[in-house]
Amino acid sequence: QRLAILLSGRGSNMVALVQAVQRGVLSGLAEVAVVFSNKPDAPGLETAAAMGCATASLSSQGRKRAEFDAEVVEVLGQYQPDYIVLAGYMRILSPTFIRAFAGRIVNIHPADTHQHQGLHAYEWAFENQLPETKITVHLVDEGLDTGPILAQHPVDLRGADTLGEVEHRGLAVEHFLYADTLARLIRGELSAPTPEPLLPSAAG
Ligand code: GRF
Repeated sequence: QRLAILLSGRGSNMVALVQAVQRGVLSGLAEVAVVFSNKPDAPGLETAAAMGCATASLSSQGRKRAEFDAEVVEVLGQYQPDYIVLAGYMRILSPTFIRAFAGRIVNIHPADTHQHQGLHAYEWAFENQLPETKITVHLVDEGLDTGPILAQHPVDLRGADTLGEVEHRGLAVEHFLYADTLARLIRGELSAPTPEPLLPSAAG
């Protein structure tokens, strides 16, 4: 299965996914078709290229969401992705984008999406002194962090007395959970709805 990984920043989840494709739980199951960013200067893009991935970018700065997303759908379509894997992609997707890849867009959220949506999830867990938070991998629908949950994994936050420590523990879980969940999704082991075939416009 061909993955298009979308990021806007550092790309530590992208690195974990590429490693899982190259020599981990995703090897033989998935390949990275492209790593795409809405920020041409995102550090993660350079890292992806250094790891041997095809990369593409289009700057979203000052662009209207629907127009921009239509162009992104076209660019991604050229790589014929089976799954769109959001990995720190800091854009809300327009309905056009979501429909183009319906049921095939996956996101990782660093909290329980039933309890927290949107940005700053680790800050939220830290400020509320939660003894535990949950990393969530979910399918993306038209809401913000509302799609069907594919997997969750707890993060023990007891004794984590800085935000940095909370993030450190959380990211360690993110990095194995994302690849593991994608592997199970591709193997058909998850009870997520089976994706429809891609629309011609999205398949390029
Ligand atoms: C991660 O915490 C992810 O859960 C969230 O954005 C962050 C991206 O980090 N959606 P990275 O770019 O993968 O390092």
